[in-house]
Amino acid sequence: MKFEMDLPADIAFGRGVRRRLGGLLPAGPVLFVCGRHAARRIEEETAELARERKVFIAPAFSGEPTLGEVDELLTFSREKKISSVVGWGGGSAMDGAKAVAALLHETGSVADHFYGRRTAEQKKVFLAEVPTTAGTGAEVTANAVLTDPATGVKQSLRTPGMAADAALADPELVEECPASVMAASGFDALTQSIEGFISRKATALTRALARSAARNVFFHLEAACARDPAAVDAVTLGSLNAGIALSKSGLGAVHGIGHPAGSLLKVPHGVCCAVLLVEVLKFNCGTVREDLDELASALGEKDACGLIDRIACLRERLGLPENFRKYGLEEKHFDFIIANCRSGSMKSNPRDMSDGEVAALLEKLS
Ligand SMILES: [Fe+2]
Repeated sequence: MKFEMDLPADIAFGRGVRRRLGGLLPAGPVLFVCGRHAARRIEEETAELARERKVFIAPAFSGEPTLGEVDELLTFSREKKISSVVGWGGGSAMDGAKAVAALLHETGSVADHFYGRRTAEQKKVFLAEVPTTAGTGAEVTANAVLTDPATGVKQSLRTPGMAADAALADPELVEECPASVMAASGFDALTQSIEGFISRKATALTRALARSAARNVFFHLEAACARDPAAVDAVTLGSLNAGIALSKSGLGAVHGIGHPAGSLLKVPHGVCCAVLLVEVLKFNCGTVREDLDELASALGEKDACGLIDRIACLRERLGLPENFRKYGLEEKHFDFIIANCRSGSMKSNPRDMSDGEVAALLEKLS
């Protein structure tokens, strides 16, 4: 058995760990890339830091970062001679920060790198990630999910050495996110832990982390939505561990199909996961029955079927949808989703899925 991990050098978890950030950043101007609502909070938190260096706060993204938004941030960062970048927010903010840090000293447009026309070579600038949701695990993954509105393509930008230098997962920040965001992002973390566990690329190490992550999220997500502090801690840790696991194990068809479906229909990523997870698990069940039985047992269920039923119940209790009807999924969308679902995630799904099988699955959800 062989495996490697490409992780942030400094991973910290716990209440208050975000306060270590100032001591980690190298000298020079720092750019905070954040969600639209985090700017004031960051201003308060970085008041001391701003006395000793230039601090720029870019409330950038309301959904996955677009190529144009990242290009704008790169132009701004080059003008300001940014020496470190901090992603502070959900997956979009952290992925946007990752893309800016990785490409700051590169040439060409973001599109050149996104579509593989150029390969990044330079050492990226210092990057720290501070999640404010428990879901994507983007603080520890070495890719950035971006979208191209011109083509509707949503996929990962991957360049060498993209992992952050520091990841600070602080449940005090996660505790502040609205219940609806906690529910959807938590379903992303649950999906990532389960897809990571049954992935073709799973290793003993990633499976141990994915199992632990699944337990944390499955048992505590409802209470976390009610802001129970211990539950928020558990779900934040679950998200972190799921991120570490998936950074090596990859994911599966929920993410393979969810990216183009979400991009086309404007469905938040966690909601996509909630819609797709149950049906994809039913599809995979016969191929990875033993693995799913094992995971079910770790989650207090009798077998894989019991686990799938309980996931559907959890989704209902959290008020998440069971299909894409309200997002307007119709047969006319199938071709785009099928044409754009053949990502790395689809390749690590434990059972091959033909175009016809993707269409049949979408039919059930429309
Ligand atoms: Fe995800």
